[in-house]
Amino acid sequence: MKVITLSCSPSRKRNSDTMLDNFISGMREYSKDLEIEKIYLEDVPIKLYRFENRLGPESNESAFRNLTDKIMGADGLVIATPTYNFGVPAHLKNFIDRIRFFALDFDNQTILNQPKGMLDYLKTYYIVSGGTPSWAQKILFFAFPPFWLRSVFLYYGADCMGALYTGNVRAFENQRILNICHKRGKKFAKHLINKKQQALPERIFWRPPQVD
Ligand SMILES: Cc1cc2nc3c(=O)[nH]c(=O)nc-3n(C[C@H](O)[C@H](O)[C@H](O)COP(=O)(O)O)c2cc1C
Repeated sequence: MKVITLSCSPSRKRNSDTMLDNFISGMREYSKDLEIEKIYLEDVPIKLYRFENRLGPESNESAFRNLTDKIMGADGLVIATPTYNFGVPAHLKNFIDRIRFFALDFDNQTILNQPKGMLDYLKTYYIVSGGTPSWAQKILFFAFPPFWLRSVFLYYGADCMGALYTGNVRAFENQRILNICHKRGKKFAKHLINKKQQALPERIFWRPPQVD
């Protein structure tokens, strides 16, 4: 099985990037058979979405095409990102805008007249760092990236297996948080390999878990 992990902070070796490394080590500990690739999203140039590139990467976007091909052939997708102004960094937002060409089926509609999500083969997980304390994020969970990311990927038809938020701005050197990331990585690998389905209540009532 293949897992693509995207490190989306421009600050390498800081919070979300280090949390992702520990999540990956947990996945590797659970299974040697998982093929895991870590990609820094900023290394992949992606033009802004526009009507002309709605059907896929442009001819001079080979790195982006390579990435979308990999995700189309993957079983898992892990996104690690900081919180920037209640959202995600611009290049991650743009990446998510650009992948609708394979994430949505505009020829088929749901009962809400929305295009059908096509990522039903993909299990996703989100690792999010922020400067807002976890207790405040818990109350305002709908205004933070774990909630938004989950909403978009549910719309895209993917399974959302969980998310982890920390408001500790020195998470990269906090062994307790990094151990939790490691454990979550192991659990994600287990769910991936055992093809665990996302439970219906999780789809409806959901709050991202936090660590301080
Ligand atoms: C441009 C910018 C905007 C930010 N906006 C928020 C925000 O809206 N909410 C928040 O909790 N933290 C915000 N932060 C803080 C970062 O999310 C926080 O420092 C995080 O730990 C950085 O993660 P990283 O080390 O993985 O890049 C912001 C930081 C920057 C640089």
